[in-house]
This record gives sequence, structure tokens and C-alpha cells, in this order.
Amino acid sequence: MRRDMKEQLVLGIESSCDETAAAVVKNGRQVLSNIISSQIDIHTLYGGVVPEIASRKHIEKINQVIEEALLQADVTLEEIDVISVTYGPGLVGALLVGVGTAKAIAYAAKKPLVGVHHIEGHIAANYIEHPDLEPPFLCLIVSGGHTHLVRVLEYDRFEVIGCTHDDAAGEAFDKVARAIGLGYPGGPKIDRIAKEGNPYAIEFPRAKIAGSEFDFSFSGVKSAVLNYLNGCAMKQTDINRADVAASFQQAVVDVLVGKAVAAAKQLGETRIAVAGGVAANSHLRKTMRQECDKAGIALCYPSPVYCTDNAAMIAVQGYYDFLSGKRAGLELNAVPGLKIGQSK
Ligand code: KG4
Ligand code: ZN
Repeated sequence: MRRDMKEQLVLGIESSCDETAAAVVKNGRQVLSNIISSQIDIHTLYGGVVPEIASRKHIEKINQVIEEALLQADVTLEEIDVISVTYGPGLVGALLVGVGTAKAIAYAAKKPLVGVHHIEGHIAANYIEHPDLEPPFLCLIVSGGHTHLVRVLEYDRFEVIGCTHDDAAGEAFDKVARAIGLGYPGGPKIDRIAKEGNPYAIEFPRAKIAGSEFDFSFSGVKSAVLNYLNGCAMKQTDINRADVAASFQQAVVDVLVGKAVAAAKQLGETRIAVAGGVAANSHLRKTMRQECDKAGIALCYPSPVYCTDNAAMIAVQGYYDFLSGKRAGLELNAVPGLKIGQSK
């Protein structure tokens, strides 16, 4: 591959949950390869991610995935400028596989190493397909483990203005899907079946949290769905799964969109980015678009492949962290509970 002196090639590595992923990204914006080895089939057997199995599968796959990422990008390891790896938050055993591998490569190939925050990576996924997107903007992050409203002040400076008090949005999708017999992972399955249902068939609660208007709570809506299902079972009435899925999805989407748009208006933000696995939800994307258009707010979200876990987003954030001077040493460790804005 011919190299321009100003080009920076970042190898991103991601293993925080059930995806083993590696990617090569040029100058923080151009994805040269994005390899994802998903473990969904194995975890589906157990109805959710089994941490020990996740770690073992990462070990089996990670070298292969990295080699494939370099091959598809048509670059050698020598040509890579920076190694960036997710070091938190996530499952500790799973994170350690990526962190250990990245450290070994950085040491052997004498490359700088950057430790990336997984959620900051999700935010950065938006830079890939929106070349004009730059901070500041407001970001709604909705994944399996997190629900946050964040002001992205600079590429590596964040202000959390809201988060969930209990379940994450994706977690609620997964639990409701399991309860209505759709299996794991529930989000995409609810998205699909909800298209055939009536979103106003059943009235599920939209939680408001007194005193913290931009915080979220999804355990109430999840319990309401479970109670509704139990009630139907006791009365021996059939449930319409499409109606339950559509009504649940509507309740979650109403809250997410309502709070994100209200926050943007109150804070004077003119642009909202959506990120994380639930950002792939078709109803959330459509409703966000409608409400942002009405409010005159610019909106962006990544293609579905960059919404769910991937390593391209880790390479993008790694690039910006590297530019701002962040470097990790070989003492870098997995930090399962890492907070946004605290990566080094
Ligand atoms: O960001 P992600 O890949 O992993 C975490 O960092 O957690 O998010 C995974 C979550 C899962 O809960 C999954 O059910 C949800 O994202 N998800 C969706 C959709 N696609 C993935 N939720 C709703 N609709 C979708 N289309
Ligand atoms: Zn994620």
C-alpha cells in the first residue's frame, strides 16, 4: 500500500462483550477494514451472554480477526501507526483478551498504544459516515449496557447530562423479547415483529424521574410488560406478540426521543447524534428524524453495522485520543466500570 506521510493508520481492537472485532481506519474517518466475529449463535443457546464462554471465544478468534483486518485493509502491521483497544467498560475477562493482545502487538511491533472507552467509541462511530460532524454536539447513547445523554464538548471531552437509573434501553429490549419468546438478542427481533403490531394497543408507562429530567429508567416499562403477560396467562387470554412488541417499543422510543430533543433545546445544541446498538432500531431512527426535523435540529446516526459493537469505532476514537496526546503503557488493564471521559 502506498503511504502519504500525513496518513495515520490505526488498528482498532474490540472484545468488551460478545463480538471479537478488529479494524483499520485511516485518519480517523476512513474505514479500510472492519472485521466482526460474532458469538451470538453460542450465547443464544443460553438466552444471553455467558461471560466465561465469551472470554474463551475471544481467545480463539482474536488473532484471526486481526490478521483478516490487516489483510482486507491491504496493510502490514509495520505500516500501522497506532494500536487502539477497548479497555472498559465491559466484561472483565472479555476485555482482558483484547487488552492483552493489543499490548503484545504494541510491544512486539514497537507501536504506540491507546486505551479507548467503549462508549466513547460508540459516539465516534458517527464520524465515519458524517465527515462534517465535529464536536460540540449532543449524543444519545443507547446500547445493551448503557443509556446516556452526553454533550460531546471535544473529541475527548464529555459531559454526561443524563443516564439510566436501572436497566439500559437495550437490556429492556432483550428482557422483553425473552419474555414474549423471541430469544436473544431481542432488540432486532422486537424491531422486526413490531412492524406488524399496533404501537398504541397497550398502554405501557413512560417513566419520568423527579428532579432529573434527562435521566432514564426502563425497569418500570419492562415490569409492566411482564405484568401484562402474567395477567394474560392468568386470564388464559392469548397475547398478540406484535402488539406487545410495538407498544413496548413505542414507550421506549417516546422517552428516548422526548428527552434527547428536550435536552438539545434546553442546552442550545443544534445537532444530535445517536449511537449504540439500539440506535439501529428502525422506529427510533424514524421518530428521531421526525422530531428533530420539527425542532430544526440536525440529526445523524451510524449505519447499523457501526451502531452495534465493532472495532472501527474504537480505531476512530483511538485516533482522536492519540492526537490529543493520550498514550497507554504496558500496565494498561481492563476497567469493567470505566466512566465516560476518564480514559487516559
Ligand atoms: O452497543 P451494543 O452492540 O453492545 C453494547 O455495548 O451493549 O448493543 C447491543 C444492544 C442489545 O441489547 C441489542 O438487543 C440492541 O443493542 N439492539 C437493538 C437493535 N439492534 C441491536 N435494539 C433495538 N432495535 C434494534 N434494531
Ligand atoms: Zn457496545
